Amino acid sequence: MIPRRPQLGLLTLTLLCALFSLAQSLSCEVCKDSGPSCTGKLKLCEPEQDACVTVVGLSITGNKESVDTSKSCMKYKDCYSGFISTTLGPEDHMVSNSFCCQEDGCNRGRIPTPKNNSTLNGLRCPACKAAFQETCSGDQVVPCVGHETQCVYFSGIVQTGILSTRFATRGCATSSACHAQVGARVPSVTYTYELRRADCVPAPRPPGRAERRSAAWAP
Ligand SMILES: *[C@@H]1O[C@H](CO)[C@@H](O)[C@H](O)[C@H]1NC(C)=O
Ligand SMILES: *[C@@H]1O[C@H](CO)[C@@H](O)[C@H](O)[C@H]1NC(C)=O
Repeated sequence: MIPRRPQLGLLTLTLLCALFSLAQSLSCEVCKDSGPSCTGKLKLCEPEQDACVTVVGLSITGNKESVDTSKSCMKYKDCYSGFISTTLGPEDHMVSNSFCCQEDGCNRGRIPTPKNNSTLNGLRCPACKAAFQETCSGDQVVPCVGHETQCVYFSGIVQTGILSTRFATRGCATSSACHAQVGARVPSVTYTYELRRADCVPAPRPPGRAERRSAAWAP
C-alpha cells in the first residue's frame, strides 16, 4: 500500500494540473510598435479571449508610409487570418496582414508585411471618417484600388489605450474586411474597434465607357 501512495498522489496531481490548465486562460505575446514586428511579454488573456493575433499594417497617408505591428489576445471567432485592404479617403489607404492562432505564445515571431497595390480598379465608394459619432455621410467618393470590391460602413467604439470614443467610417475594402461582425472587438495596429455596425455591399459597377466620357467628372 505504502509504495503505491506516492504514485497515486502523482497521478492526482497530474490530473489536477491537466484540469487546471484546461480552465486556465490562453497566454499571448502582447506588444505594439512601429516596424514590421514587435516583441513583448507573454500575458494572460481574458477568459473569453481564445486566440492570439498578430497584425502588421502598412498605411499610406498622402505620400507618407508607415509600417506598424501589434500583437494581442482576442476572440477566435472575430479573428481573420489574412490580407485586408481599405481606402477610407483619397489619401488614406491601408493594407494589413493578420495571423490568428490558439496556443500559448503562438503569436511570437514575424509574419510578412502586406503588399501595397495602388492600382485603381475602376470601382468607387462613398467615404468618410468621423470621431465622436457613429454615423458619417459619405459625401466624398474614393476610388478603390487593388482587390477592393466592397463599399464598407463601420462604426462603433474605438479604444486608444484608456480612452474610448465613438467612430464611423466608410470607404472601399477587400471582401476579407467583411469577416468583421457587429459585436466584434477587432484590434488594428494602433486601436481596438468594437463594432456596432459592419455593413458591406459590393461596390457599384462603374458606368459604361461612353457614359464615363460624358460623366460629371469633367470640369
Ligand atoms: C505604394 O503604391 C504607390 C503608388 O503606386 C507607390 O508610390 C509607393 O511607392 C508604393 N509603396 C510601396 C511600399 O510599395
Ligand atoms: C493590383 O490590383 C490590380 C487591380 O485590381 C490587379 O489587376 C492586379 O493583379 C493587382 N496586383 C497584384 C500584385 O495583386
